[in-house]
Amino acid sequence: MVVKMQSLDAVSSEILAAVAAADSLDALEAVRINALGKKGRISLMMRDLGGMDAEARKTAGQSLNKAKDAISAAIDRKQSDLAAAALDARLAAEAVDVTLPSRPETEARLHPLSRTIEEVIAIFTEMGFQVAEGPDIETDYYNFTALNIPPEHPARQEHDTFYLPPDKDGRRKVLRTHTSPVQIRTMESVEPPIRIIVPGRTYRSDHDATHSPMFHQCEGLVIGDGVHMGHLKGCLIDFCRAFFGVDDLPVRFRPSYFPFTEPSAEVDIGCTKEGGALKIGAGDDWLEILGSGMVNPRVLENCGLDPEKYQGFAFGMGIERIAMLKYGIPDLRTFYDSDLRWMRHYGFLPFDAPSIHAGLVGGSN
Ligand code: PHE
Repeated sequence: MVVKMQSLDAVSSEILAAVAAADSLDALEAVRINALGKKGRISLMMRDLGGMDAEARKTAGQSLNKAKDAISAAIDRKQSDLAAAALDARLAAEAVDVTLPSRPETEARLHPLSRTIEEVIAIFTEMGFQVAEGPDIETDYYNFTALNIPPEHPARQEHDTFYLPPDKDGRRKVLRTHTSPVQIRTMESVEPPIRIIVPGRTYRSDHDATHSPMFHQCEGLVIGDGVHMGHLKGCLIDFCRAFFGVDDLPVRFRPSYFPFTEPSAEVDIGCTKEGGALKIGAGDDWLEILGSGMVNPRVLENCGLDPEKYQGFAFGMGIERIAMLKYGIPDLRTFYDSDLRWMRHYGFLPFDAPSIHAGLVGGSN
């Protein structure tokens, strides 16, 4: 029996060495079968216990069980080591460096209008505005009446409205002529304080080098308790300076008229026009870029807001116009030509999202 136990030691250290040497889960499984499987070396020794006398069987049995447990434990440990190593190898092999630029370099370009809208949104959301939307097809009420533009008002003619065929009740919907109807929709549905901008499509029956039947505007609306003209001016001066990236850009408020604001002001920015070249910044000339004003108390009333309690200001700007000025795009019609050469020239890298912090002047091409 002593001889046998010596050989058990030899056999188990041989097996443990084989466990240690196994370099794959398959190799380890082969070692396990060879040791603990039905016809494995340890299993066969277990079977031999039957032929021993009681005393010898007890000691040999204990030693065999110990050896078997040690081998099982070694196999389990090795198994988890190999599994962890296999996972590490896979993670290393499949690792993706998300900081690498895409290959091949994308041909895609972001349209300057999309880029401009993103920039406007970046500036106003930083000031605490939220983005709101409304339908392109509007009722006459939201597009005109609620905005204090009654039927027969001359402003209706100025809008060159596209009318849809009359519905069953004889009412004609319109393609919204400005983003201002979203002012009404917002005041009807949310409690002040309100701070929204509304980028979106607008439509007027007008087509030449500076007008397109479909174009884009961005509306702004602020409603609260104690909002005054100083807030309007501060907000729009900050916007103009941030958008054009000129810290000392002169901004001028020129009295104007809109039925839905009172008082109303058009906003001009300073520029120079020398030898046909336009430069935005301090100079002797002005460019109009925005309409604005304090929300007319009648409009507040139309939306169920008490003008004694709430005041606000609103503004609207043409996205094409500010994009043309900022990026030196000379002809409005080219925005809608779908000309790839033009896109390669004026487009923006799609992953280069504008932010106040990273910069608002995009990497073109
Ligand atoms: N809706 C006006 C336009 O289309 C712009 C505007 C909006 C003016 C809000 C004042 C206040 O010209």
